[in-house]
Amino acid sequence: MPGRWPTSTPGPALAARRRRLREQLQGPALLAAGWPRPRNFPHNCHPFRAESHFLYLVGRQLPGAALWLEPGAERLYAPPPEPEARLWHGPEPSLAELEAELGLEVRPITELPRAETAATLPPQDPTAAEWLSGQLGRVVKASALPSESADVALAEALIALRLIHDDAALAQLRQAALVTCDAHRAGLRATRPGLREAQVRAQMEATIVGAGMTLAYWPIVTADGHILHAQRHDGVLAPGDLLLADVGAETPEGWAADVTRTWPVSGRFSPTQRAAYQAVHTAQAAALAAVRPGARYTDVHRASQRALLQCLLDLKLLRGSLEELLVCHAVALFYPHGVGHLLGLDVHDMEDLGDRAGYAPGRARQQNPSARYLRLDRELQPGMVVTIEPGFYQLPELLAAIEPGSALDRALDREQLARFADVKGIRIEDDVLVTDAGHEILTAALPSEVDAVESAMRG
Ligand code: GLY
Ligand code: MN
Ligand code: MN
Repeated sequence: MPGRWPTSTPGPALAARRRRLREQLQGPALLAAGWPRPRNFPHNCHPFRAESHFLYLVGRQLPGAALWLEPGAERLYAPPPEPEARLWHGPEPSLAELEAELGLEVRPITELPRAETAATLPPQDPTAAEWLSGQLGRVVKASALPSESADVALAEALIALRLIHDDAALAQLRQAALVTCDAHRAGLRATRPGLREAQVRAQMEATIVGAGMTLAYWPIVTADGHILHAQRHDGVLAPGDLLLADVGAETPEGWAADVTRTWPVSGRFSPTQRAAYQAVHTAQAAALAAVRPGARYTDVHRASQRALLQCLLDLKLLRGSLEELLVCHAVALFYPHGVGHLLGLDVHDMEDLGDRAGYAPGRARQQNPSARYLRLDRELQPGMVVTIEPGFYQLPELLAAIEPGSALDRALDREQLARFADVKGIRIEDDVLVTDAGHEILTAALPSEVDAVESAMRG
């Protein structure tokens, strides 16, 4: 029986986004899709993934296309299908067919006039940056932050739209979330001592690819969960290991899921692994309980930190009072990152714009160890999607850097920590929609409670 298959955003929903953006524009704007990047020769390219702002407004992966917007007009410029390409790639929609599908006027890209007054946003693709520079008659750098005032205004208008997901975006995010839950279930069931991390990863990716999706980011599937963004998958799984899998699907239109689970390779958590896992789960529950409209995300972060600290006190890994531990940033020793981030077309949504999307106007990152990696500081609103992903890690670099005699040194019970040697890293990450009533966990279909994780491993 065929499984789930992604649907695409209908033309009218895309048109509504463009209309809302155009209402905010002071002048023209040009957004490029980008080009496929060759791997080793021009016809062997990395899979094409269009720039996210383009995808938000056009909803289709159209290499070499560009969207022109003005307060009173909109037009897509695209390369017409090459007759010879049909031989190799099969038929592609003509520009007229594209126009009918999208409900948007489409012209050949060669008809796009030079537009020196248009705003744009720096693309990630260097080829697109070079092309935009020629088109706009000014230097546009890839992966830079917008600096021209018209570009900043365009960024602000897009942020306002993309922060609050419309129904079509939520439909995409739900599809990505469900396939990601399936992928994690496949990983849970596939795990056995003696396999390589790559073999578990393969089962997870097979589920995603088989459901018509790709990966939203480079997957983390590792027994070295303390390496926060571990890149390798060549380790052999030992019976006493925990496996941390941070794997998320992306729909064909580019919408992401971002999910982490941590499970015992043997199928049973050891007593120390179970205790540490429950501490992270408690921290996640405390954060989730704080997710509601009007809540400041920094307070969600702090709720997870306080809950984790209390658990670490209960486990006697730390000593002192909760307030003392907060002052010396003891939590950042084991949980140095933020509780989560925005999620949408990008796994860290709109971080191409720096902290402009994540931080409300007038706010900036705090530099203390408990908050410096927090990527979001806004009041939550219905329609936002965020991740909630506390963790517990034994990070050798941070433990080695503790100054002898410092408050942190006095707070840490190293003998007790040594008993937790079989806990390198644990993270539990879910994707959460803020609703009028509070929140909805989009990835709730995947269990996270400790006994349920063990059951899921047995299938
Ligand atoms: N997968 C990257 C993150 O969780 O932020
Ligand atoms: Mn995340
Ligand atoms: Mn993640």
